[in-house]
Amino acid sequence: MDTFDIDNNLAAEPQLRRQAKERMSVNEAEFHSPRTEEATKRLVHELEVHKIELEMQNEELGRSHDLLELKISERTRELTRANLQLTQEIDERKKAEKSLLVAFAEIKRLNDRLQIENIYLQQDVAREYNFGEIIGQSSALAAVFLQIEQVAPMNATVLLLGETGTGKGAVARAIHSSSVRKSRPMITVNCAALPTNLIESELFGREKGAFTGAHERQIGRFELADGGTIFLDEIGELPLELQSKLHRFIQDGELERLGSPRTIKIDVRIIAATNRDLKEEIRTGRFREDLYYRLNVFPITMPPLRQRKEDIPLLVDHFVAKFNKKIGKKIDSISKDTVNSLQGYHWPGNVRELESVIERAIITSQGSALQVLDRFDTAGRAEDLAGHDVKALALMEHDHILQALRKTGWRISGCNGAALLLGLNPSTLRARIKRLGIARP
Ligand SMILES: Nc1ncnc2c1ncn2[C@@H]1O[C@H](COP(=O)(O)OP(=O)(O)O)[C@@H](O)[C@H]1O
Ligand SMILES: [Mg+2]
Repeated sequence: MDTFDIDNNLAAEPQLRRQAKERMSVNEAEFHSPRTEEATKRLVHELEVHKIELEMQNEELGRSHDLLELKISERTRELTRANLQLTQEIDERKKAEKSLLVAFAEIKRLNDRLQIENIYLQQDVAREYNFGEIIGQSSALAAVFLQIEQVAPMNATVLLLGETGTGKGAVARAIHSSSVRKSRPMITVNCAALPTNLIESELFGREKGAFTGAHERQIGRFELADGGTIFLDEIGELPLELQSKLHRFIQDGELERLGSPRTIKIDVRIIAATNRDLKEEIRTGRFREDLYYRLNVFPITMPPLRQRKEDIPLLVDHFVAKFNKKIGKKIDSISKDTVNSLQGYHWPGNVRELESVIERAIITSQGSALQVLDRFDTAGRAEDLAGHDVKALALMEHDHILQALRKTGWRISGCNGAALLLGLNPSTLRARIKRLGIARP
């Protein structure tokens, strides 16, 4: 800026001139002297340079500012966009939550309805199957259903009589599940299956140390059944001393655990069952008369299968469906001849025997028709049996069981066992073997 025209500049920049003058703190005369003129020129030059620098910085700042503004507005736009998206998402979530709640309410409503329908269905099934599991439309069975209906709502003791496999256990379950006690358990005790020395503690319970080997306290089955039902199956096999204890319990409604002096009050409904002729057992001194009268409040006698042959086709259908499902077969027909031969047989093992025959037939049948391989001896065995006295019956039972054991190579349980062949529970068969004194040679 060598050609700097101070006058011009000073004229153009009165403010600069004033500033220079002030900085130099000189009067008007001195200011116009050549010495100051030179200094002024330099100063003005410096100021000019400074000003240009300032302007440049200012411009730079402006640019940075604009850039910043741009960035801020971009960022703001981005944030607004994100915010909008978030708001939308929240809205959607809220909507989803709302529809979920609606769906939940709907599911709950459907579930409630399903349960109600289930109950209706169960009632239907119960009607069709007669108390859940008992199949048959014979008049002999209809009389039993009537008795079940009459006695189930009461607390009365029920005595179920009838041959083995006639459905006494099924009737006991039906009575319990149609009673007000149905929400409580039905405890079953098979008096024939329990070892004699354990029956007492099994039934009545025991305190720790009540006898050698009693390491723990045991709650008896009567206590377990409190509020519910106890089913004393094969009551005819109960040892005499326990018969008197049972009699006392029925009379007082209370018991003592073995080894305890404390009496416990128990509210239990008793259903007892036996295939023995209890009157005969009383006569021979094997059953207490007083207990018999306590139990014989409401007797129900199950008709043997041979006296309700019209139920056989229904039972066969039922068991075919049951074992088809269990074994995974699709047997869907049965010849008239087969039905005839099943109806002609005298079924000493009753429904249980029929059930085993059908299970075996389902296993062995080829194709879709049921083939029953068992050969039934139909030559009036029922009439034969009816003519024999009890001793002869026991003898026949002895021989029959022995024959079955020989046939199965002394196997008792399992699908090749004598129990299945005879239509008996393995535990019952074991008890019979013991009672009849059958020993393996
Ligand atoms: N009327 C019936 N309908 C369907 N199954 C039956 C019927 N009677 C008995 N059963 C079945 O036969 C078998 C033997 O019956 P169960 O009640 O144990 O006889 P019991 O106690 O008289 O020896 C069981 O599997 C049972 O479900
Ligand atoms: Mg039984």
